[in-house]
Amino acid sequence: MTAEILNGKELSDQLKEEMKQEVEALKQESIHPHLTVILVGDNPASKSYVKGKEKACEVTGISSSLIELPGSVSEQELLQVIEKQNNDKEVHGILVQLPLPDHIDEQKVIHAISPLKDVDGFHPINIGKLVNGEETFLPCTPFGILTMLESKNIEIEGRRAVIIGRSNIVGKPMGLLLLERNATVTYCHSRTKNLREIASEADILVVAMGREHAVDGSYVKEGAVVIDVGINRMDNGKLTGDVEFESAKEKASYITPVPRGVGPMTITMLLKNTIKAAKGLSE
Ligand code: GUN
Repeated sequence: MTAEILNGKELSDQLKEEMKQEVEALKQESIHPHLTVILVGDNPASKSYVKGKEKACEVTGISSSLIELPGSVSEQELLQVIEKQNNDKEVHGILVQLPLPDHIDEQKVIHAISPLKDVDGFHPINIGKLVNGEETFLPCTPFGILTMLESKNIEIEGRRAVIIGRSNIVGKPMGLLLLERNATVTYCHSRTKNLREIASEADILVVAMGREHAVDGSYVKEGAVVIDVGINRMDNGKLTGDVEFESAKEKASYITPVPRGVGPMTITMLLKNTIKAAKGLSE
């Protein structure tokens, strides 16, 4: 079997086009969706991600403001900046780009963002709602993956999903979302024994390990759906995933490429969450 490619870039462009209309309609009702992005320090990868987020906002007509703070900013100052945005009625979404410098407690910062403006879906209240299966802001990467699966009517119910990676941002919420849709979910991580054996039982295999080509075709069951969340820069400067694409695609039924797979969907879901916040749906 040679897999069908799940083209996240194409789907993203389509969704952004739809959102453009939605934003336009909201503006007719005097609702102007606005996202505030807070960037601390000068991590080049973070800067590049933030630029991508600003550009995507612009394309869909969502206004955004970027607050850049020096890496030396104190935790207290950062919390005050967040509080000001929490209280600003013109601001619907707040995103603090991670990671933060070591002297700042990341969890404290996430707790400080109003759950009603938490477009990343990282606040414990929103995570709690996710666990309960209540309506909330879904973390953008898992939300994007789910949207890709749904776009192809890929069956989730009753299927075996294996998630490799247990981060708060991707792995954990991904498993919860699939469980909510009645998949049988297994989490794997760095201490998992027999990883290949477990992965090769998956109907849906989500790989979020952060290690270049850690998974190849021998981990993939014939006909499985393979979702590659990894973004790794190779020695030649090109981006590649956690999955060795060429061997995996020979066994999978669907597979996401890197780039143009999950990455563009993550940003697009941030826009969706910002529109949702502007509509006040989570209140
Ligand atoms: N850093 C890497 N991914 C993310 C993300 O999805 N949101 C935020 N806020 N920071 C990140």
